Amino acid sequence: MNPFQDKVVIITGSSKGIGKSLAEKLAQRGTKVVLNGRDETALKQVAIQFQSRGYTVSTVCADVSQLEDCRLVLETALKTYGHVDYLINNAGSNMQGKIEDVQPDALRLIMDVNYMGALYLTRLALPELKARKGGVLFISSVAGIHGLPMHGLYSSAKMALRALVEALRAETSGSGLYVGLAYVGLTQNEPGKTIYDINGNPIPKIDTKGFKLQPIPQVAEGLIHMMEQRRFIRVFTFLGKLTNILNRISPTFVQFMLTQAYKKRGY
Ligand SMILES: NC(=O)c1ccc[n+]([C@@H]2O[C@H](COP(=O)([O-])OP(=O)(O)OC[C@H]3O[C@@H](n4cnc5c(N)ncnc54)[C@H](OP(=O)(O)O)[C@@H]3O)[C@@H](O)[C@H]2O)c1
Repeated sequence: MNPFQDKVVIITGSSKGIGKSLAEKLAQRGTKVVLNGRDETALKQVAIQFQSRGYTVSTVCADVSQLEDCRLVLETALKTYGHVDYLINNAGSNMQGKIEDVQPDALRLIMDVNYMGALYLTRLALPELKARKGGVLFISSVAGIHGLPMHGLYSSAKMALRALVEALRAETSGSGLYVGLAYVGLTQNEPGKTIYDINGNPIPKIDTKGFKLQPIPQVAEGLIHMMEQRRFIRVFTFLGKLTNILNRISPTFVQFMLTQAYKKRGY
């Protein structure tokens, strides 16, 4: 049985990367997908590409870090399809730099998109998702397992999702709502991917050297599988699983290893 046939799924940040791949794979399963991102041109291009393949997709250009934009996402999805079954909080961005160096004006940026964006839309969509006995999946990162030097703001935002998800899962227990949290590992980046610098300006994302990167379609497939099985938590990649286990046994050891690794890289 295909649990996603004819379901309506909102995927935030689906104009590229993991979100786009998720959208494609779900649309192939007969899902009606609401695509989202801030770049209207990029979003439209993806929609045209998908529609030419016969997929049912629509677009909402919106910045999920803004509450009113999140209202627009939900309202448009409801207006277009009449209901919403699943929400995938995928939109996210990283910032590279020491906490000490981040400009005060840029301190909120990463929390606003990765955490507040997920919270706003989840809160707004919750009554609908519960009524449909659908679900909400949060895309975290292995950086959310233990505070990562040079990515402290990103780690914090992804770690905060854990508390949100645990509370939400307890509060909605017995309602039929699925709540999941995915710790995605190091993934191959789509060309042109950007992150933020310490001033809050976009800069090209350079692939992390010396580590095996999981291909984007593999990550998307893993996320769908996780939702199909209604799994609460899934940690991706060998390195992610290892970090998770070590952190449970000895966070001090993980802290030591990370400190050494970052010193070795000259930070
Ligand atoms: N790639 C990795 O190695 C990796 C590892 C662990 C976790 N993750 C997580 O996986 C998710 C997807 O990552 P990715 O690598 O696929 O990223 P990506 O290639 O940079 O794509 C990010 C998507 O989010 C959208 N977006 C960014 N800010 C947004 C905002 N404020 N409102 C609405 N849309 C926004 C982008 O479109 P616009 O820029 O046009 O808005 C784009 O569609 C993120 O949550 C990320 O933290 C990624």
